[in-house]
Amino acid sequence: MWKDRRVLDLFGIERPIIQAPMAGANLSDMVIAVSEAGGLGSLPCALLSHDKAREELSRIRQATSKPVNVNFFCHRAPIVDAGREAAWKQRLRGYYLELGLDPDRPTPPSTRAPFDETFLGLVEEFRPEVVSFHFGLPQPDLLNRVKDAGAKVMSSATTVEEARWLEREGCDAIIAQGFEAGGHRGLFLTDEITTQVGTLALVPQVVDTVKVPVIAAGGIADARGIVAAFALGASAVQIGTAYLFTPEATISPVHREALKSAGAEKTALTNVFTGRPARGILNRIMREIGPIASDAPAFPLAGGALAPLRQKSEPLGSGDFMSLWSGQAAPLAREMSAGELTKTLAEEVLARLSSR
Ligand SMILES: Cc1cc2nc3c(=O)[nH]c(=O)nc-3n(C[C@H](O)[C@H](O)[C@H](O)COP(=O)(O)O)c2cc1C
Repeated sequence: MWKDRRVLDLFGIERPIIQAPMAGANLSDMVIAVSEAGGLGSLPCALLSHDKAREELSRIRQATSKPVNVNFFCHRAPIVDAGREAAWKQRLRGYYLELGLDPDRPTPPSTRAPFDETFLGLVEEFRPEVVSFHFGLPQPDLLNRVKDAGAKVMSSATTVEEARWLEREGCDAIIAQGFEAGGHRGLFLTDEITTQVGTLALVPQVVDTVKVPVIAAGGIADARGIVAAFALGASAVQIGTAYLFTPEATISPVHREALKSAGAEKTALTNVFTGRPARGILNRIMREIGPIASDAPAFPLAGGALAPLRQKSEPLGSGDFMSLWSGQAAPLAREMSAGELTKTLAEEVLARLSSR
């Protein structure tokens, strides 16, 4: 049925559709639904405590025997720069006062947990078929133990150079993450966002560079995008934003409404929410202090000072101070369950390919 079986055979899945891990936007329900539908469901762990990750993994293993992917960030812990943090807080002071908040209260911590020994213990215990990383790869000793646990490993490349590096360091597949993609850019050999490449140009260049299979990500939300990715040489696709429209997405009503609104036609890369560039729907805080702020504290510290603003405004129905992660293809997405979306996309792709 599928001409290119490289990713299907590598991961043991039936359909070449990987649901992108989306920290803060999906938990086990989506993973189970997608994997049961023959795609590859992905559990993002960057925002989960070790205990919560264990709970979600237990649920997944009880609910499905199909292959799953578990995803981790692997950034280096930031060096805290108190002066920079104070200046950042000062920059947000007017918003605190506007919302009736005390800007002089201590800034809450902003955590995105990088892959560590404890997460590795979970990988060794639950033995997911696939482990994916964002922001490069963990230290070689940790990576080797992930592989020893039987997992196939993949990570995001945003440039040809990153793809080459990931292959050399032992990735079994490479996700070519184009500029259109929602959420954080996986960039790790560069912090130069103006030279980031779109999916249409990136995928074939990565395909020409590496021997391992390539998975296209970024701006793909319907069968046309998937067929195009295959034409460029991708063996599978990784889709995030389109899955935000499913009931399994754990996003807030404000985020869901924003995705469905005309505003979703305008997304931008911003670092104001975490300190690293990520794509989201343009909102007030991005417009007024970003979208790229050169003085934002290092990832993930920038988010701390934003948190009280979000906590106060979001329950009132405002998306002014929160990340509304979205890729550029949100207007192409349809509302249906995650399992249905996986099957529908696969069927539509096969129909298109067979009518040629
Ligand atoms: C809400 C959201 C959260 C994301 N979180 C993660 C994450 O935790 N780990 C990761 O590897 N990629 C993450 N990504 C990026 C996706 O893996 C993928 O590159 C992207 O969704 C593809 O582009 P698309 O959104 O246009 O489909 C996230 C994307 C979105 C939209």
